[in-house]
Amino acid sequence: MASRETSVGNEQTAFVEGVPPLLTSEVIAERVREMGAAITRDYEGRSLVLVAILKGSFIFAADLVRAIALPVRIEFLGVRSYGQGTASSGVVQITQDLNNPIEGEDVLLVEDIVDTGLTVAHLLELLRTRLPRSLKVCALLHKPARLCTPVPIEYLGFIIDDHFVVGYGLDRAEAYRNLPYIGILE
Ligand code: IMP
Ligand code: MG
Repeated sequence: MASRETSVGNEQTAFVEGVPPLLTSEVIAERVREMGAAITRDYEGRSLVLVAILKGSFIFAADLVRAIALPVRIEFLGVRSYGQGTASSGVVQITQDLNNPIEGEDVLLVEDIVDTGLTVAHLLELLRTRLPRSLKVCALLHKPARLCTPVPIEYLGFIIDDHFVVGYGLDRAEAYRNLPYIGILE
């Protein structure tokens, strides 16, 4: 059986060439635990609907739900911003809608990264029309250098410099999502 020690040991050598680490899996795990604890505190006595934005946030959301000690429901919102490049177009296409209503619910939008802010701004507008009781944003990463539309991020994992990053769910043209760490694409 693989031990924890083995996987920690592998982490040292598992960085992919051309993708040097920015945030290791240990650093991410610790921060996700803290974010889950903060959410648990803030929503005490309530239940929560997490709306994970696909595809990028699927790994973050999977770890985050397990760090939240409250009754939670998880919904997925499939989104694609057009293009294969490293610049966000800001044009958001919904590829999969929620399966259930969120009216009257406390909703937390879970996003991998807020870059220009256009995606989250667009989705907040969309979800508000569904009349949730409350609607807040939880993002693992934020690149303030490129922000065009200010969006409130109640729970933020890390502020990063203006690099294109991949791993832990984040992709470049669908590749690298499975890296256990977040690295800079050189
Ligand atoms: P925004 O609309 O510019 O805030 O872009 C948000 C979306 O662009 C994110 O949900 C990601 O899918 C993608 N994105 C922005 N920056 C990066 C990055 O550095 N790596 C991978 N995807 C990114
Ligand atoms: Mg995304």
